[in-house]
Amino acid sequence: METRTAGGRTHVHFKIWRQETTDHEGRFEEFKVPYAKGANVISCLMEIQRNPVTAEGKRTTPVVWDSNCLEEVCGSCTVNINGRVRMACSSLVDHLAEPIVLEPLQKFPLVRDLAVDRSRMFDALKQVTAWLNIDGTHDLGPGPRQSQGDQAVMYVLSTCMTCACCLEACPQVQLGNAFMGAAAISQARLFNMNPSGKMNADDRLSGLMERGGVQDCGKAQNCVEVCPKEIPLTTSIAAMNREVTKLLFRRILSLDLPSARAAAGPG
Ligand code: SF4
Ligand code: SF4
Ligand code: FES
Repeated sequence: METRTAGGRTHVHFKIWRQETTDHEGRFEEFKVPYAKGANVISCLMEIQRNPVTAEGKRTTPVVWDSNCLEEVCGSCTVNINGRVRMACSSLVDHLAEPIVLEPLQKFPLVRDLAVDRSRMFDALKQVTAWLNIDGTHDLGPGPRQSQGDQAVMYVLSTCMTCACCLEACPQVQLGNAFMGAAAISQARLFNMNPSGKMNADDRLSGLMERGGVQDCGKAQNCVEVCPKEIPLTTSIAAMNREVTKLLFRRILSLDLPSARAAAGPG
């Protein structure tokens, strides 16, 4: 690694949350990592993995974290850095105040150290049928045309990487509650905009009406502030709220009252 020798720091100071399991007490450990120009948080974690020795010189276990693509695409490296949720792979140490404090996401069950279980996000995608049913359609020729305007909107929505920043920042998402958060709501919008997704459009809206659905959003707008892909999440939430209301009215007007009552929820 290239180190700064004059007029600058030679090491980067990290304070990292260590916790074996949720049954163990957690604690911070501090590390001094050799400074390298352009280093990001993941490259520093890799350095600690190569040489797991604390700032006090004590040998320790390598830190556990998640990452994969290292280019802000897979969404797996999300952690709280200096108290703000971000992607570790695109967070450059030159832009962060020291000590750089790394903590796991608080809205997801801890696995170990910085790694958490984000299953609730994938369960939410299942709840809103966030896919297209195209089995058996490959012999039918080209699919329906999409306007360029719709393509532009859908492209942005499709960049969601299930990183969980929006859930971590949302005051309505808590460990142990069921709110699906903004990402799944936005994915329901994406697939309902796709002409090939029309046949399951009401399934997606029904999923949004179920427990933990769009009605639990408190409209705090924290989600849109932290999304690394700048997805217009509050626009998606408003659009899906309108579609859900329309479906409810359609059900009432078609006198499908049991479905309408079930969809409206208890009370
Ligand atoms: S608008 Fe607020 S309450 Fe709704 S999903 Fe976003 S952060 Fe959560
Ligand atoms: S909507 Fe944005 S913040 Fe939320 S999971 Fe997708 S990319 Fe991450
Ligand atoms: S490692 Fe894939 S987004 Fe950071």
